[in-house]
Amino acid sequence: MAEAAADAGRAPNLRLFFALWPDAATRAGLHARARALHSECGGRAMRRDTIHLTLAFLGETPVRQVERLRAVAAGVQGEGFALDLDRVGSWHRNRILWTGPSMVPPALAALAQDLEGRLRADGCALEARAFSPHVTLVRNAHAAPREAQLAPLRWTVGSFVLVASERSAAGAHYRTIGRWPLKRRG
Ligand code: 2AM
Repeated sequence: MAEAAADAGRAPNLRLFFALWPDAATRAGLHARARALHSECGGRAMRRDTIHLTLAFLGETPVRQVERLRAVAAGVQGEGFALDLDRVGSWHRNRILWTGPSMVPPALAALAQDLEGRLRADGCALEARAFSPHVTLVRNAHAAPREAQLAPLRWTVGSFVLVASERSAAGAHYRTIGRWPLKRRG
């Protein structure tokens, strides 16, 4: 995923979301999990460079709002945390297979809540559905995974990002347009 400055003016709208983006080692572990689920359940494994956890989905957003979103993100007061991804599951409605934590770290819940509150206060129309932290690993799966509980894959989270989703013939490509650090614990 390319890191780039927010290059406003490129297009009138960007499809935006805030997310946690895994470091290379976590990404490799998640991709291995995606491949194993794909062999078991079919479908389409997420590409290694597209694996992430969405914090807040903004959807189609005018490019001119990017600077305001950067200002909102810069105000977020979050602490870093460790996320143990020890569950896998499937959602029938959209046939995705995901991995997630059985225990949501309080710092993750607080981060998502703080970000959402600041975005709403700034006038963003977010969906009403509750935050359900998950990492999508496979799309269009033919079956559900046999095992729901796995050995935890530990992801040490130290920042969050604003990402633009760009579609091409090769599928979705994600471009990071901002990154904000979370405070170190302790
Ligand atoms: P998903 O992984 O469960 O599909 C980019 O589309 C990211 O935003 C994905 O991680 C996707 O979640 C998430 N997302 C949340 N709400 C969405 C929506 N209404 N439409 C598309 N993607 C959404």
